[in-house]
Amino acid sequence: MSDRIYLVLLGAPGSGKGTQSQLLQEQLGIPQVSTGEIFRYNLKNETELGQLAKSYYDRGELVPDEVTIRMVEARLAEPDAARGAILDGFPRNLIQARALDGITEPHGGIALVPLIQLEDDVVSMRITGRRLCRDCDRVYHVTFNPPRGENCDSCGGVLYQREDDKPETVQNRLYVYYKQTSPLIGYYFAHGLLVEVDGEKSIEAMQEQLVALLVARNIGLKGSAVSA
Ligand code: AP5
Ligand code: MG
Repeated sequence: MSDRIYLVLLGAPGSGKGTQSQLLQEQLGIPQVSTGEIFRYNLKNETELGQLAKSYYDRGELVPDEVTIRMVEARLAEPDAARGAILDGFPRNLIQARALDGITEPHGGIALVPLIQLEDDVVSMRITGRRLCRDCDRVYHVTFNPPRGENCDSCGGVLYQREDDKPETVQNRLYVYYKQTSPLIGYYFAHGLLVEVDGEKSIEAMQEQLVALLVARNIGLKGSAVSA
């Protein structure tokens, strides 16, 4: 019996997982759970978790599974995730995928895994122009999705560029994606959950495609604001 909606957004660094999940959470009324964002919050606040994650994060390597899985389990048990969540950046390898299956299975499992596809050269263009709000993590792009003014449109926070968006770290993040995360494409395909989304479309067109995929599968329609 499915009493929650769990979506997993898969895709390379810079493919638009954060952008799309931030928009989808409004449509579905369930939160975005971004492991990258949780790590950035802890790095900024110099917590114990932040100190532990720092050397991995700065090199674009995966933070150890044990730490990451425990962190996600705790996040998914919070009250705002009582109807499910949009997972952005988790799972990133097979160990994490199996752990997520264990967490979600009592609630009907994962509903869908949209895979955002785009070429690597577009990825680097996306990443070099990315800016984030220091307070609310809203994602912008200097050309494709600029803020109205200098600061964040949502909360007025200061915008900044991510530490791990340096070209050499981006290269390693892509390498880690192909080596460790891309096997999940086969894993979710075999589970009948994978759907492809064209990541080279505009932000709005991608969002429309995602919503249409959810509507076609009747995901999130009950008691939520998703409409065709
Ligand atoms: P994380 O923060 O998850 O980074 P990532 O996977 O590399 O993905 P990005 O956030 O870079 O890209 P995105 O797909 O969200 O794209 P966005 O929407 O911003 O992880 C960072 C680090 O944390 C990892 O390297 C690792 O160290 C650690 N970590 C995280 N999760 C972990 C895990 N599970 N296990 C272990 N370690 C973990 O878009 C990019 C840009 O393009 C933006 O500027 C946006 O405005 C623009 N844009 C988006 N869509 C479009 C479009 N359609 N057209 C034009 N521009 C667009
Ligand atoms: Mg992101």
